[in-house]
Amino acid sequence: MKQIIKVEVSVRKVALDECKTDLLCVGQFTDAKTLDKSLKLLDDKLDGALEQVLKLGDFKGEAGSTALVYTGGKIGAKRVLLVGLGDRKKSSLDALRNAAAAAAKKAVAIKAKKMAVALHLVFGGKQDLVRCGQVTAEGVNFGSYIYDEFMTSQKNGRSESLSVELIDDNAAAVRKLNSGAEVGSIIGEAQNFARTLANRPPNIAYPENLAAEAKKMAAGLPGLSCTVFDDKQLKQKKMGGIIAVGQGSEHKPRMIVLKWTPRSAKKSGTVGLIGKAITFDSGGISIKPSAKMDAMKMDKTGGAVVLATMKAIAQLKLPVRVTAVVCAAENAPGGQSYRPGDVITTYSGKTVEILNTDAEGRMVLCDGIHYAKQQKCEPIIDIATLTGACIVALGMHKAGLMGNDDRLIKALSSAAEQGGEPVWYMPSGDEYAEEMKSKIADLKNTGSKYGGACTAASFLGEFAGDTKWAHLDIAGPMEPSEPLKKYVTDGSIGFGVRLFVEYLKGLAGK
Ligand code: BES
Ligand code: MN
Ligand code: ZN
Repeated sequence: MKQIIKVEVSVRKVALDECKTDLLCVGQFTDAKTLDKSLKLLDDKLDGALEQVLKLGDFKGEAGSTALVYTGGKIGAKRVLLVGLGDRKKSSLDALRNAAAAAAKKAVAIKAKKMAVALHLVFGGKQDLVRCGQVTAEGVNFGSYIYDEFMTSQKNGRSESLSVELIDDNAAAVRKLNSGAEVGSIIGEAQNFARTLANRPPNIAYPENLAAEAKKMAAGLPGLSCTVFDDKQLKQKKMGGIIAVGQGSEHKPRMIVLKWTPRSAKKSGTVGLIGKAITFDSGGISIKPSAKMDAMKMDKTGGAVVLATMKAIAQLKLPVRVTAVVCAAENAPGGQSYRPGDVITTYSGKTVEILNTDAEGRMVLCDGIHYAKQQKCEPIIDIATLTGACIVALGMHKAGLMGNDDRLIKALSSAAEQGGEPVWYMPSGDEYAEEMKSKIADLKNTGSKYGGACTAASFLGEFAGDTKWAHLDIAGPMEPSEPLKKYVTDGSIGFGVRLFVEYLKGLAGK
């Protein structure tokens, strides 16, 4: 398999006009009639070529838009890329992250090997430079990514790697940018790792193979342990939910458990992160329609995001204890499959009447949540491409956030904001749980026609019980929404990695 593009981020003290690079990327807001003042000196050296672009109206600084200017050897850079950040009044670090992504996407498209990024200058010092460094590094990783592991043709190929320099001519600024960029590179690379796992075809990435990836990852990260329960062990432990979902497939299920237990951990307690990793969701006996069924290879996104989060926090050496539980199974129809009508005894002992085998995510997660409870994790946070109903409710722009603890919901909402991965709080209380009661078992796996995201969450909440718990339904942002497509290519966006790392950084006091 081909290596996904390697992005190397560094920080250098150099003046804009002197920087030798293939592509120098600078920012511009929409509301400015003239060129941003941070670019005045550069434009003088270019005999007003940048101002000209604005005057001609070719480029207005709109978010996600870019304009390429050839420098004719007047400055160190071969090309300048003007990158739009949108409205200055609405501007945020998220706009900077997106602009960096748009720039890197363009750099890859023109096969630049080296790019220099000075987008932070438009803020004129109004944003924290450490954060600027972080989000820029996240953004260039985000935007340069193309899932091309299986492309063998070299024609129109991209370069092997992309070297990105964040530049500033001020030494103190460079130091701050650098400390942020180190963090942002780790997060950005982890997010792309999640995208690759999520994008991998289901004949290549099945539970056993995902477990091998997790083992390989943990082996390279001191202090991160990885244990895998295979189908025999799952049966021994009576993990009836994950067993039922996985039993129809030749590819048997796995539960992947990763533990990060740094001695430096400040607080007691262990956070539990539970990820849904259905390596292919055909629906099972309640089979899905064939249109776009291929997208259900990305039904492992939650698990991929949890694995990537563990990679990032181990690299960042965050002083907080985290246990990850990835529930991996393939939901396939066959003679051995679980069926509508079956009653399954889950790991918790609670029984569930199956009404639709396509509501499989909750059936694997309930065992993962119960396992995390047994391991004394609190809070427990699960992440899953759980329901089409959540897409109906929120569209593709935001993930649904449910849970039983206000402080946890607030902390996750603010981490989502920081990470630029938007969430929306949704209900999952008793009235929804009521719908999930079965006449012949403790629970059933589907609710009524309405509020499917909320009833699914309430089902999971039954397994969390009194333990502080939150749930992220990422079915919508499994793929980029229309506005995001300006910054990223098709396929998984690894939604949740930045959110989780920000949340855990917050717990670690960083
Ligand atoms: N993986 C799907 C949800 C999904 C759909 C994610 C589209 C991303 C895009 C999930 O397992 C599923 O099939 N859910 C059912 C539940 C229903 C049968 C109660 C759904 O949403 O239709
Ligand atoms: Mn399903
Ligand atoms: Zn599914």
